[in-house]
Amino acid sequence: MENKIDVVLGLQWGDEGKGKIVDVLAGRYPLVTRFQGGPNAGHSLQFEGHSFVVRSIPSGIFRAGSVNIIGNGVVLDPISFKAECESVRAMGIVPEDKILISKKAHLILPTHRLMDAALESAAGKGKIGSTLKGIGPTYTDKIARHGVRVGDILREDFEKKYDALTERHIHEFGALGFECDPYAQKEEFMKAVQFLRTFKLIDCEYYIDSFLREKGAILAEGAQGSLLDIDYGSYPFVTSSNTTVGGVCTGLGVAPSKIGHVYGIFKAYCTRVGSGPFPTELFDETGEKIRAVGHEYGAVTGRPRRCGWLDLVALKYTVMVDGVTDLIMMKADCLDGFHEIKVCTSYKIDGQETTHFPFDVLSPIEPQYTSFKGWSKPLAGITREEDLPDEFKKYIAFMEEYLGVPIKIISLGPDRDATIQR
Ligand code: IMO
Ligand code: MG
Repeated sequence: MENKIDVVLGLQWGDEGKGKIVDVLAGRYPLVTRFQGGPNAGHSLQFEGHSFVVRSIPSGIFRAGSVNIIGNGVVLDPISFKAECESVRAMGIVPEDKILISKKAHLILPTHRLMDAALESAAGKGKIGSTLKGIGPTYTDKIARHGVRVGDILREDFEKKYDALTERHIHEFGALGFECDPYAQKEEFMKAVQFLRTFKLIDCEYYIDSFLREKGAILAEGAQGSLLDIDYGSYPFVTSSNTTVGGVCTGLGVAPSKIGHVYGIFKAYCTRVGSGPFPTELFDETGEKIRAVGHEYGAVTGRPRRCGWLDLVALKYTVMVDGVTDLIMMKADCLDGFHEIKVCTSYKIDGQETTHFPFDVLSPIEPQYTSFKGWSKPLAGITREEDLPDEFKKYIAFMEEYLGVPIKIISLGPDRDATIQR
């Protein structure tokens, strides 16, 4: 049978638990790749009493024998990557042996991070709530065709390229009236680039092609969520990359026919960090309870996440755009003890009921809910399907019917072992 690339995607606004699932699935895949995003991601892994948050490194890093690729669609910050590698090394893993980096990935410069801050402070009320990791400005330079790429660090004139882009940014800071010291981190950056040179830099598209033909299946790990996609998300409150399935093809250099399973991850409720529309957001005690029980605080920025009921309208939309074949449901155990559990099954917009995710997500949307009775016994700790309470079985059967895709994995706790595979 032909080897394929299976994909793990977040179907909401990020923080669905992709790290845990990639870590669980990574046992089956000798190669794990990231294809978009950058250190705006924070994927939490828990195993054998350890907990770890990866940012740019694929979540397969702690699996024995796994190869981990940072693909060309990723934007890489050498400074934060170096720090991340040192934490991995402290866990007994040699990052240089396990991580390969595409030469075509773009580099995040210190001035890209400053530019993120400059643009956010100039935005006033229209702030995106960016993670300030320089993601948007780096992708902007990539599309504008003057970005600096990982492969450029092997060129003798690398420093010239760095300086030229920095000078460009200095002009832009001037226009924004933003004051900063653009060269303050140059030395640290160049040291981190030196560190990057000790890694194997590859032509990811060739590597993946021969890996699929000769070695085995590949797992592609999405960052952020489909509702943060630059094209299909809640624009302009989105990230600057294609987080949906098409990003896999452009971010790794593979054809659509090579894609196998698309695992779509969602939480049993919704969260969002940063600004932007969130139709089912709760501003009451229920929202606070979800935040407290689910520990919904940002892994990258520590910000409290906005919380609300599960939005099946938005979920069905991302299931469609991504061509999800297998659903993975996270954190239903956080709803243990709720008497009533709601899911949004349609929107009312201008008095009209609809199940379409609208173009203008900034206009007022009234979510219409279907209610479920809470389950009679806690889900936390259950590891066998037959032990699940009937109320919960009814609830997930409804969801599978609504979404038209089976729920193949139910995760009921952060640890690797707290996972029911169906
Ligand atoms: P993981 O991979 C949740 C959000 C930011 C902001 C918007 C744009 O852990 O799910 P950016 O820094 O990308 O320009 O910010 O996107 N955001 C995330 N939210 N999880 C993430 O990643 C995110 N990465 C970016 O909060 O609203
Ligand atoms: Mg996150």
